[in-house]
Amino acid sequence: MKKKKTILVILGGHSKERDISLKTGQSCINALKKLNYKTIKFDPKFSSLTELKKKGADVIFNALHGKGGEDGVIQSFFEHIGLPYTHSGPLSSMLAMNKHFSKKLFVKNNIKTPRYFFLDKKDFSKEIIKKEVKKNNLKFPIVVKPNDEGSSIGVNICRNFNSLYVSFNKLRKKYENLIFENYIPGKEIQVANLGNRAIGAIELRPKRKFYDYKAKYKKSSKTEHIMPAEISKLKYGEVLRISQKAYKILKCRGIARCDFRFYKNKFFLLEVNTQPGMTSLSLVPEIAEYKNISFLQLVNWMVKDASLNR
Ligand SMILES: Nc1ncnc2c1ncn2[C@@H]1O[C@H](COP(=O)(O)OP(=O)(O)OP(=O)(O)O)[C@@H](O)[C@H]1O
Ligand SMILES: [Mg+2]
Repeated sequence: MKKKKTILVILGGHSKERDISLKTGQSCINALKKLNYKTIKFDPKFSSLTELKKKGADVIFNALHGKGGEDGVIQSFFEHIGLPYTHSGPLSSMLAMNKHFSKKLFVKNNIKTPRYFFLDKKDFSKEIIKKEVKKNNLKFPIVVKPNDEGSSIGVNICRNFNSLYVSFNKLRKKYENLIFENYIPGKEIQVANLGNRAIGAIELRPKRKFYDYKAKYKKSSKTEHIMPAEISKLKYGEVLRISQKAYKILKCRGIARCDFRFYKNKFFLLEVNTQPGMTSLSLVPEIAEYKNISFLQLVNWMVKDASLNR
């Protein structure tokens, strides 16, 4: 019998999504053990990346979320040391994490995304915001959010200029790049991608103001998960096709998740996540389960799909 591979699960790290990554990583380690893989836990917060190659792993399972782990930086390092890894490669990770870059690509390829403008630190001023809102014909409510963050951290929905400036003043202290975009009412729909195939769409009905950090990760917030999403068959097929197209445009690999708003029969793509959560409340595993792909099968598929030159 062929010897089972040793899988190094990289988790935790330094980003604001560290806690979620620890949960994602632990769920995947449990699954890998059940699949009889040997596992090594590696947290860049406590071990230097220069140690990674010496651990004797055959494959790196990337369970990081957010800055450093989802934005192409660590992916470049995996390529550099020549160890096969899961999920998307450097360029695609960078493009997907950077909302400004990915939205530009969506627009260019006729994928609807909320109308928006992007501000760099050098343009951080109330006057410029006022001018850009007008120039881009944005209408309140307006969402202001970091250009490259995750887990809804820093997402603010603003009803007027006053509240927009208050949110902006908070965000400018922590982020160098911001996105201002039209708030899209309607439904929250997310699609799971497994390689080139979009396998299903789930609908989220948060009990909170929106699908924020608590609504995503706290069971007590009681967000309703509706699988499959309550939309017509025709629209269901359409949102899967848009997701496959977005995945292809960004040249994603492995699993990914596309986040949409659905309003007046139209889908607006908010973003593509190249390191989607794999916690017990996470959506890709839930969608996979509905398609009769168990968590173990999903994790095993990810390991088998790992490679270099992603
Ligand atoms: N333009 C918008 N219109 C309506 N709701 C929005 C908009 N932008 C963000 N939201 C709400 O905030 C949530 C998080 O937004 P988004 O997916 O852009 O950020 P994120 O922090 O990158 O999320 P993730 O956890 O998926 O990485 C969305 O799922 C949605 O509920
Ligand atoms: Mg999102």
